[in-house]
Amino acid sequence: MNNLPSSNAPLLSIRGVTKSYPMGSSRLEVLKGIDLDVQPGEAVCIVGQSGSGKSTLLHVMGTLDKPTLGKVHFKNAELTRESDEKLAEFRNRSMGFVFQFHHLMAEFSAIENVMMPCRIAGLAPKESREKAEKLLDLMGLKERVNHYPSEMSGGEQQRVAIARALVLEPQVLFADEPTGNLDTANAAKIQDLFFELKEKLNLTLVVVTHDMGFAQKFPRVLKMRDGLWA
Ligand SMILES: Nc1ncnc2c1ncn2[C@@H]1O[C@H](COP(=O)(O)OP(=O)(O)O)[C@@H](O)[C@H]1O
Ligand SMILES: [Mg+2]
Repeated sequence: MNNLPSSNAPLLSIRGVTKSYPMGSSRLEVLKGIDLDVQPGEAVCIVGQSGSGKSTLLHVMGTLDKPTLGKVHFKNAELTRESDEKLAEFRNRSMGFVFQFHHLMAEFSAIENVMMPCRIAGLAPKESREKAEKLLDLMGLKERVNHYPSEMSGGEQQRVAIARALVLEPQVLFADEPTGNLDTANAAKIQDLFFELKEKLNLTLVVVTHDMGFAQKFPRVLKMRDGLWA
């Protein structure tokens, strides 16, 4: 990967990021030139009205989507120059993702779901299982390892999804409305869990939410409006 001259680079750095989609004879500009630095160990929250570009920005930061223009750096590496194959490998190892919906695989048990990233990374079954057990234990789901998603509550399903996101010890956890599909009590528990995990696992957090109560728990809150920082 390509190096930048700076040796104390932020963990994540994006510069001049735009994203536009063709729309009739013109283009829909969803991101209009976004800059952001995230330091290692930071907890950053991104808020803004629906349609302001939060999910698009998170996807671009997490290399799930490419910007139309601009650059995304992770430490000293310019991710926007890498091949899709390299990025997939990098994401698997260094980034975790949690979405509004858990996206667990219904035909697999909790532990099998959590083991999935380990298997994709090429870890042996035994090591994968040990890692997954440890994470499920940390999530308070020790008794649930062999249960299927349909046998768990929404909050438990989301905990399994978080365990899956963290099983390979990523440096950064991205979450897009991670409590948007939960009732108030479960949402509050999951919110607290994020900060607990951040401390325990030395994570950097980048979370999108429209729950202002959740946002208030973050030391840094950034607001988007119409594809730009508000
Ligand atoms: N693949 C796409 N093609 C066209 N328009 C898109 C696409 N993805 C998102 N958009 C548009 O970009 C805007 C921002 O979307 P999004 O990033 O999902 O906003 P938010 O997460 O803040 O609600 C919306 O107007 C949405 O319709
Ligand atoms: Mg969104």
